Amino acid sequence: MVELDPSRMPRHVAVIMDGNGRWAQQRGISRLHGHRVGKDSVRAVVETSRRLGIPYLSLYAFSSENWGRPPREVDGLMSLLHRYLETELGKMMRHQIRLLAVGSLRRLPPAVRDALRSTIEATRHNTGMTVILAVSYGGREEIARAARAIARRVDRGELRPEQITSAVVAQHLGTAGIPDPDLLIRTSGEMRISNFFLWQIAYTEIYVTDTLWPDFREREFLQALAFYQQRQRRFGKTPAQVERDQQRLRAVN
Ligand code: IPE
Ligand code: IPE
Ligand code: MG
Repeated sequence: MVELDPSRMPRHVAVIMDGNGRWAQQRGISRLHGHRVGKDSVRAVVETSRRLGIPYLSLYAFSSENWGRPPREVDGLMSLLHRYLETELGKMMRHQIRLLAVGSLRRLPPAVRDALRSTIEATRHNTGMTVILAVSYGGREEIARAARAIARRVDRGELRPEQITSAVVAQHLGTAGIPDPDLLIRTSGEMRISNFFLWQIAYTEIYVTDTLWPDFREREFLQALAFYQQRQRRFGKTPAQVERDQQRLRAVN
């Protein structure tokens, strides 16, 4: 059994859900079937996060680069996403889950985009937890879009270049108002970021597991959280400084 400290839960967990294709290939079945089983892992991680009281969960579901996959796979992934939104709405309402999305939603097929927009609208007042779907998402595109929005504000005279701080950049990203991830999980062993949350993960703890996404369920998720709780987050300080700060914090609590 994995022991977790409820007082040291991450506020925001982000997941690169990778390995559906390899999972299917190992079984001699179609990649799409792997994606379908991966949907059950999404459910498991959402439910566990909700139960543990993790306020924000981000799921990298489809990257800007994934548009370059064979059309059949892209279509299959789009209809899976569409169906997921339709079938999960009831549960999102029951469990008070608010859905948000980041990415170039304009590139999505209209039916999927509409389903996403209406789920976001229907769940907007839910207060139990926030799930952020990264679809048609690329970190570089997001930063470039923020740069364009900021440039327009400078152009209009609303902002001076000296006023462009990190906080201002963060306010122009798709994740504006959402705390940076504390923990980033990537399944299937790849030690790379694949254009996910480039700006947001500056100080995120990274956990990579060889488990393929369709096999990543509650037990694996709890292991990732236990790993997170063992990390000492220093944010550039020395271990002694961090320990002193923690003692002070304990003293005031
Ligand atoms: C992750 O699984 C799902 C998406 C990227 C949409 P993959 O489809 O990348 O699976 P592998 O990496 O080929 O095994
Ligand atoms: C990253 O997985 C994107 C998602 C999980 C949605 P990929 O399978 O697309 O990443 P690469 O190509 O291996 O870097
Ligand atoms: Mg992959």
